[in-house]
Amino acid sequence: MMAFEFYNPTRLIFGAGSLAQLGKAARPYGERALLVIGRGSVKKSGTFDRAVSILEEAGISVLEFSGIEPNPRLSTITRAAEVAKKGKCDMVIGLGGGSVMDASKIIAATVFYEGDPRDMFTRAGKVPRLPERALPIITVPTLAATGSEMNNGAVATIDDEEKLKTYVRAEVLYPRVAVVDPELTLTVPKDHTAYGISDILSHLAESYLNGIDGTPIQDRLAEGVIMTLLEWGPKAVENGNDLEARTQVQWASIVAWNGWIQAGTDTTLPVHMIEHTLSALYDIPHGAGLAVLMPAWMRFAARFRPDRFAQFARRIFGLPATGRDKLSLAIEGIDKYEEFLRSIGCPTRLSELGIGKITDEMLFHWAEESLRVRRDEEGRLPGRPPLRKEDIVEILRMAL
Ligand SMILES: [Fe+2]
Repeated sequence: MMAFEFYNPTRLIFGAGSLAQLGKAARPYGERALLVIGRGSVKKSGTFDRAVSILEEAGISVLEFSGIEPNPRLSTITRAAEVAKKGKCDMVIGLGGGSVMDASKIIAATVFYEGDPRDMFTRAGKVPRLPERALPIITVPTLAATGSEMNNGAVATIDDEEKLKTYVRAEVLYPRVAVVDPELTLTVPKDHTAYGISDILSHLAESYLNGIDGTPIQDRLAEGVIMTLLEWGPKAVENGNDLEARTQVQWASIVAWNGWIQAGTDTTLPVHMIEHTLSALYDIPHGAGLAVLMPAWMRFAARFRPDRFAQFARRIFGLPATGRDKLSLAIEGIDKYEEFLRSIGCPTRLSELGIGKITDEMLFHWAEESLRVRRDEEGRLPGRPPLRKEDIVEILRMAL
């Protein structure tokens, strides 16, 4: 039976042209903002200058912090928090993709965090000490992917001797406002548009396939968003200037991971945990790693839950069920999912990720690394089914 509490206080200002409302949206939170960006694409596109002048017109002075890397490093985040503190910033605005928004959330919490900021993160065998205060956070996404703009999660890589890509979820990390303007995504190149779609699909499909039984409303919500992405995603990849397609994909990214679809499902994201290992070690775009790992994990997991995967095949791809055994129907659905990822230009094999020669030792090492963030009492990665080290190696082998 489902039992849950739901909370999401983020004000969402959504739609083409909504960047113009950033000043009004931010003004209630103070007069000085740390504006966090990545490695400069928002400067090339002119979005940065527009954001600064919109903020200044509203009476907000801007302190810039640039250089958040993809798969953001905790050392960079800690440096940015010092800048925010010294600059007496009243708020943190993240203008960029998932990495920039996640970094901004952690910066806002690190400003007040007493002790070692590593302690706020999820690490197997340690109870996280969650942040209880943060500067007001405002997110302005320039890529449709992580859904970070309207949730309380943030991923970062602890980049000292620990070398661990992990996450923090805490109530103070909910942005006060998300200003989501799909026009800002028009310049995203085809490959990163496709990786974003792969990430969104993974949030939906992982929730759908790892959650508890008996969640009919959540199932239909997830199916609806997945089907919408299958329809509109290719249009956004095909023609980056298709504002309608960009808008639908952007909205999908928010709905996929703002908590609505996961409410009451008690879901886990084992494929994300394995992917984080790859992107931490090899700096692979998150959505590209997921496109490789999802079909392999699905083929592994379908054996344990054929009914669920058969439902996925039937409802999402309209595959006929009559006279079919559940597992073969399930596998056909997974084939379709993989075909879709390929059709939009995602890699679906480890050999396509530029890692070079992959040895058995590497597979075992990756499996061990994937168990460092979360483990159940039997040492397995939580999910359906829970994954032992050997299971993770088998999944990785299936993705070779
Ligand atoms: Fe993700």
